[in-house]
Amino acid sequence: MGKVKVNLLKKVDNSYEIIIGKGLLSQVVKYIADSNYGRVAIITDTNVKKLYGKKFLSMLKDKKVLAELFSFNAGEASKTREVKEKLEDALTRSRFKRDSVVIALGGGVVGDLAGFVASTYMRGIPFIQVPTTLLAMVDSSIGGKTGVDTRYGKNLIGTFYQPKIVFIDVEVLKSLDRKEMLNGVVEMVKHGIISDKKYFLFMRDNIDRIYNLEEKILIEAIKRSCQIKKSVVERDEKESNVRKMLNLGHTIGHAIEKASEYKLSHGISVGMGLVVETKIAERLKMIHPVESRKIIDLIKKLGIKMNLSGINVRDVVKNTFYDKKHTARKTNYVLPVEVGKVVIDVPVKEKIVFEVLQAA
Ligand SMILES: NC(=O)c1ccc[n+]([C@@H]2O[C@H](COP(=O)([O-])OP(=O)(O)OC[C@H]3O[C@@H](n4cnc5c(N)ncnc54)[C@H](O)[C@@H]3O)[C@@H](O)[C@H]2O)c1
Ligand SMILES: [Zn+2]
Repeated sequence: MGKVKVNLLKKVDNSYEIIIGKGLLSQVVKYIADSNYGRVAIITDTNVKKLYGKKFLSMLKDKKVLAELFSFNAGEASKTREVKEKLEDALTRSRFKRDSVVIALGGGVVGDLAGFVASTYMRGIPFIQVPTTLLAMVDSSIGGKTGVDTRYGKNLIGTFYQPKIVFIDVEVLKSLDRKEMLNGVVEMVKHGIISDKKYFLFMRDNIDRIYNLEEKILIEAIKRSCQIKKSVVERDEKESNVRKMLNLGHTIGHAIEKASEYKLSHGISVGMGLVVETKIAERLKMIHPVESRKIIDLIKKLGIKMNLSGINVRDVVKNTFYDKKHTARKTNYVLPVEVGKVVIDVPVKEKIVFEVLQAA
């Protein structure tokens, strides 16, 4: 018998910077022009292509960068293996090689899909995130989760693959509608609830300024949210433990979103999820009513009403079973114990969830 050992023990440094500011697109162009990438593939969706993609491409070309734009139909329905395959074929057809870089220019759908493409194309090529929705800025562009949906569920196929750098240009939020802004704002409030009371209060006191895109406040809010998400990801990149806390509001939120057949937005569903999960914590005597009031009041201030009319509560409970965190007839929840602190892996009986939902 023979034995050969392949020694691959290595220390990798996947650290990267998140740059936040106004009018950064030209800085991205400079960064790319100064790098040694052979070719640049900008991956975007049809909406962002019209708004910023074409301009971005011509800015790169002006700097003599070899760049090409690839787009797919905007919307979650495009986050599939089929669209990934089309993008891969397009890159191959255009002879993109291992010295190429992918730029994900768009919201979370673009980031997840383009990141996944980059992670497997020619066994992995670098990618840069240029998030253009508030949700992508504070949430999906950080942490390296990439992936696509399948008919059996969302985000089931994917990789952990970190970007080389993230450029957040708040200027692009000018074209984003209020519903999309809310999707981001809810995740920001969630960040406050899970680990930073001061930030929670900052969000509460500055909501209108954020909607009005007041530059200084907006940049500060995004920066602090990114800091919270990154420190969670640093502690647990692959979601074995503490990263689960980012799922606060999402066990019920996803279940509501699905029960509404995706008519309710992610932000509104997660907002309701935060309320219901806070009430579950209150029912289990894990949070003082004074603290839970603060959370519920802020969700209300965001304009999210607890309204499950037209939604079958039983379906919502059933949908939580398909949540990755489900075991037997109990589902594991992330629950708040005070503003700024949560606990993970709390098993909650179906009956309690059902009762809280009915009373909500
Ligand atoms: N990877 C992660 O860690 C992570 C975390 C959270 C969410 N996600 C994923 O993110 C996705 C949701 O992201 P999203 O909310 O950004 O959705 P999205 O990418 O579909 O963008 C929402 C809409 O806004 C448009 N848009 C984007 N930027 C715009 C701009 N500046 N102005 C005007 N319109 C603009 C898009 O074309 C789209 O129609 C989901 O697929 C979700 O699973 C991933
Ligand atoms: Zn979310």
